[in-house]
Amino acid sequence: MKLKKNNKFVVAADGSAASGKTTGARIISKKYGLKFLSSGLLYRFASYQLLRAKPKNKIKFLKLKFKNLDYNKITKINLHTSKISEHTSIIAKQKKIRNILKKFQRDFASKHKRVCIEGRDIGTVILPKADLKFFFICNLDIAAKRRFKELKKKNKLIKFKNVKKELKNRNLRDISRKNSPLLKSPGAVIVDTGKTKNITMMVKLMSKFMDRKILEKYGS
Ligand code: C5P
Repeated sequence: MKLKKNNKFVVAADGSAASGKTTGARIISKKYGLKFLSSGLLYRFASYQLLRAKPKNKIKFLKLKFKNLDYNKITKINLHTSKISEHTSIIAKQKKIRNILKKFQRDFASKHKRVCIEGRDIGTVILPKADLKFFFICNLDIAAKRRFKELKKKNKLIKFKNVKKELKNRNLRDISRKNSPLLKSPGAVIVDTGKTKNITMMVKLMSKFMDRKILEKYGS
């Protein structure tokens, strides 16, 4: 099933850390011609800038940083260190910071006809009217093994038990915060990547729902 040039289609993909949502959302975006945005990367970039500059007025500082931000540029920075991961989930609790990033994400979505954003609150807060919502879950051990394998490429000294502990703590923080917690939006399709055997199976499952929704919205 293909989207036509003028077809509008919005996808939200949420889920816990290392649940495979970025991989899934990215592949689906490429397959169906959607503009892809990782909101986690935006939060990580905010953390990176705050850690670097230690500004007095964080909100004013971040507003300026996100004003004309070139998203492609931030995809080139290494924002996946454990220090940034932890600090990101701490600053992500703050409503004023979330509001700055919310504006960036909404502007991104309104600029493009076909779009997919992944994160924690996309289906619930950022794009509540999305055509299709995915909610990724994954058993902690499998998610930790996946993240460990990725991080090991850059840091040979990394320990599995630390990666697992950090993921667990971050998920707890994201689920239990007051502002925009990680939550399944009603109607979201669950993708359990602890159960799908490989990436091909995950994409097949996601494609099935994509095709169904496109057919429902645009026919043939
Ligand atoms: O998705 P990723 O693991 O890169 O996100 C890093 C952190 O950014 C999350 O643990 C969460 O605290 C925060 N985040 C968020 N809302 C989003 C995306 C990410 O609070 N929409």
